[in-house]
Amino acid sequence: MRRPNRAVEIIGQRIRRLCRNVAMLTLLRMNFTVSLVFLLFSGVVAQDGWAVNYNSKSFCALKGSAVTIECFYSYPSGHSVQKAFWTKELVTSGSEPPDLLDDPEYRGRSQYSGDKQQDCALRLKNVSEKDQSKYYFTFITDQPGGKYQGAGGVDLSVTDLQVEVPERVIEGDKVTLTCKTSCSLSVIPTFTWYRNGHRLSSSTDQLHLQLVSREDAGRYHCAVLGQNFRSPEVTLNVRYGPKSVSVSISPSSERVKGSSVTLTCSSNANPPVLNYTWFKEGGSSPVGSGHSYSVQQRGSYYCVAQNEYGSQKSAVMPSTLNGVGHTVLYAAPGVTVGCACLSVFIAASL
Ligand SMILES: *[C@@H]1O[C@H](CO)[C@@H](O)[C@H](O)[C@H]1NC(C)=O
Repeated sequence: MRRPNRAVEIIGQRIRRLCRNVAMLTLLRMNFTVSLVFLLFSGVVAQDGWAVNYNSKSFCALKGSAVTIECFYSYPSGHSVQKAFWTKELVTSGSEPPDLLDDPEYRGRSQYSGDKQQDCALRLKNVSEKDQSKYYFTFITDQPGGKYQGAGGVDLSVTDLQVEVPERVIEGDKVTLTCKTSCSLSVIPTFTWYRNGHRLSSSTDQLHLQLVSREDAGRYHCAVLGQNFRSPEVTLNVRYGPKSVSVSISPSSERVKGSSVTLTCSSNANPPVLNYTWFKEGGSSPVGSGHSYSVQQRGSYYCVAQNEYGSQKSAVMPSTLNGVGHTVLYAAPGVTVGCACLSVFIAASL
């Protein structure tokens, strides 16, 4: 009984040792990766010791959002940085470009979050299209000729959001709505979607509607979680063939013999039905067309509603109601009043 236990123990020890080795290797690997990333990030320091390294050459930000442009700089030892600032202009011989923070357009919503050592991050709040520009970090030291600019600069693009909807959507289609940006956002955000102002569940830049139905029609907009900015609303129009096709009859109750009745066909369709066709029950060729149809003959009729997405038949409607239509008095208001007066007259004379 003890032997297998010991064997298990030994195997256990071996596994533990192996794990420890693997962990150490992983740690070493990670260290190496971090160093490598750091090297890449800090870039190749210029041979003479002057350098500005931006973390990316271009930045795409959502309108109204805040951006932080990361940046590191270096200079030969013995120098002490006197001034470190961002500008939209390239240094030309002699002149010093204007500090962004002195510009009324930027004052109050931009901040130099770097220092006078090696960090040169810039933070801009509430960015707008007007901020689209190239930005350069520049610094000046206490030594003669101690001026350097990161001439590569950072290109800032500012985008809004636009919902892209397929032009023609038919009920039953598989539809994808896309929240479009004009540049690819540097920080992937969580998107939010709304239909008629109500939040939907998608959190990516696409909204998938599997089997689109009439209920999916409405006004859509997208936004980014945590940002005030939202896209304009776009209407999703779902087209479908006629449904609920029915015939109504007027006048609807008692009729004088021989008078005509009007049958009206109605339906629910998108686009609305313009093309109604009338048939007499039992007949195969149409007897009329149009939204309404006037009949004098007795018989039963139905209509067919059609648009470019389909057609549907109504139930059959008799032009007379169970045969009573031909014998009953015409119940116009004047006649009713006349009868009432007559009754009063008779009652009074008794
Ligand atoms: C953001 O900037 C816009 C102009 O681009 C301005 O109308 C708006 O009031 C600003 N919002 C905030 C919160 O400062």
